[in-house]
Amino acid sequence: MANTLSVLVWSTLFLFAALILLLNILKEKESRNCKLRPPGPPAWPIFGNFFDLGNMPHQSLYKLRAKYGPVLWLKLGSVNTVVIQSAKAANEMFKNQDHIFCDRKVPDALIARNYYQGSLAFGRYGVYWRILRRLCASELSVNRRINETAPIRRKCIDKTIQCIENDVAEAQARGESGQVDLSHYLFLMAFSLIGNLTLSRELLNLQSKQELEFFAAMVKCMEWVGKPNMSDYFPFLRSLDPQGIRRNMMKDMGCVLQIISGYVKERLDEQKLLNDEKKDFLDGLIQYEGDGKEGPDRLSDQNINIIVTEMFLAGSETTSSTMEWAVAELLRNPEAMRKTKDELDRVVGRNRKVEEKDIVELPYFKAVLKETLRLHPPAPLLLPRNAMTDTEFMGYQIPKDTQVFVNVWAIGRDPDCWENPLSFKPERFLGSNVDFKGQHFELIPFGSGRRICVGISLADRLLHLGLASLLHHFDWELGQDATPESLDMNERFGIAVRKLVPLRVIPKKRIM
Ligand code: HEM
Repeated sequence: MANTLSVLVWSTLFLFAALILLLNILKEKESRNCKLRPPGPPAWPIFGNFFDLGNMPHQSLYKLRAKYGPVLWLKLGSVNTVVIQSAKAANEMFKNQDHIFCDRKVPDALIARNYYQGSLAFGRYGVYWRILRRLCASELSVNRRINETAPIRRKCIDKTIQCIENDVAEAQARGESGQVDLSHYLFLMAFSLIGNLTLSRELLNLQSKQELEFFAAMVKCMEWVGKPNMSDYFPFLRSLDPQGIRRNMMKDMGCVLQIISGYVKERLDEQKLLNDEKKDFLDGLIQYEGDGKEGPDRLSDQNINIIVTEMFLAGSETTSSTMEWAVAELLRNPEAMRKTKDELDRVVGRNRKVEEKDIVELPYFKAVLKETLRLHPPAPLLLPRNAMTDTEFMGYQIPKDTQVFVNVWAIGRDPDCWENPLSFKPERFLGSNVDFKGQHFELIPFGSGRRICVGISLADRLLHLGLASLLHHFDWELGQDATPESLDMNERFGIAVRKLVPLRVIPKKRIM
């Protein structure tokens, strides 16, 4: 009797599973046959095109462009996805349909600690996002604020240069070559800038135990956010969290938020003593008062902690990896390095430091940075967008809740826009008005439209002054283990795409 029952249960389960599989295949077939979907590779049942993404999704998608064209349809597990891979399609998306594609898909990792609910970058489009966006833009990016914070950028860059000099001197005193891991110093430079701007804290030397803990947990959070996560594509896996990403995020984000909440408490106590004097981003968040019409009257403590965290997550590795790629490209292209240094010597000379006002006089150097961002956008697929309604896009039907990747890495290599797209040629930007501020769709490393990077002006200043100062202050040489031809330029995917093998170089001081 028991045997018959168990056979019956198993056969029912088997039939049920087969039925689900069949329905899935039929549904998928119907969706593929729908002439109005963009073209794309065939999909597996259940997994869809998940395996087409590979370890470097932007590179795999770029390869698919040759066969399927610049607008691609994929089924990633159960998530409908459109990939935009040409300037023309990006133009259509951002110019004519930004109001439909200005929502985000929330990654499972950021469900931890309800991070997404307080986040600007991963928040759903709506009233709270609009308020936060206005507030962050006015605290970070408006011209007045950018000019006021110039001394902070100067200080962080000078301290980084000093730090490199000290470490090299110590290494040479020990009889070593003085070769340094440049990415380490660049990351600290960006991290300490964000620390100074948001919390008025100097985080370059990481002196206390708490600062070290904060730094380590923040780096871990960046790792979890940047890791491809199966739970994002297979919702039935979410409760299992098979890669442990959400569990890890719970722990490390918990640590970060707790430390920041301590800093916020200290600030609130200080403000009681100092009569609400406003000095940094954190004060701006604490002192926010709603207009009484829409949104909250003030930001909750939890949301303040999340917004501060976000500036570190969004602003550190993006800027440091860009500078690292730029130095690597210049080392591989000695002629471009020579032209950059000649220009710096002509405009700045060797007896003083580069200043922000010098940058407009450095067209070749500015072209080097554009060329770097063309070939090495730190967020190659931007941040995933989400279609808020059904829409018709370039003759295709895109259903509500479709995820959208804009492959700016592929657009930067599009031969329809760029001559010899794979070669590093800053000259292509000389005499051209193309820039990366979101209006020229062949070059959009910061995105475009309503959700364009809110830190773009800050990044613009830091990248220019930071990189120019490093190139002006030091001659950078490769060690004996590398030559311009053999320098490894492979990528590592994460919160920002950076060099797989960190750049190791010997700095030699060149200014007085
Ligand atoms: C090289 C430096 C940087 C690059 C390449 C970069 C790139 C990007 C990209 C591609 C997006 C998504 C845009 C879109 O969906 O259209 C973004 C959003 C964002 N970025 Fe940046 N970013 C950089 C630096 C910074 C800095 C320094 C900060 C702040 C301190 C910052 C804060 C943000 C925030 C908060 C968002 C979310 C905006 C929103 O969704 O409304 N970024 N960034």
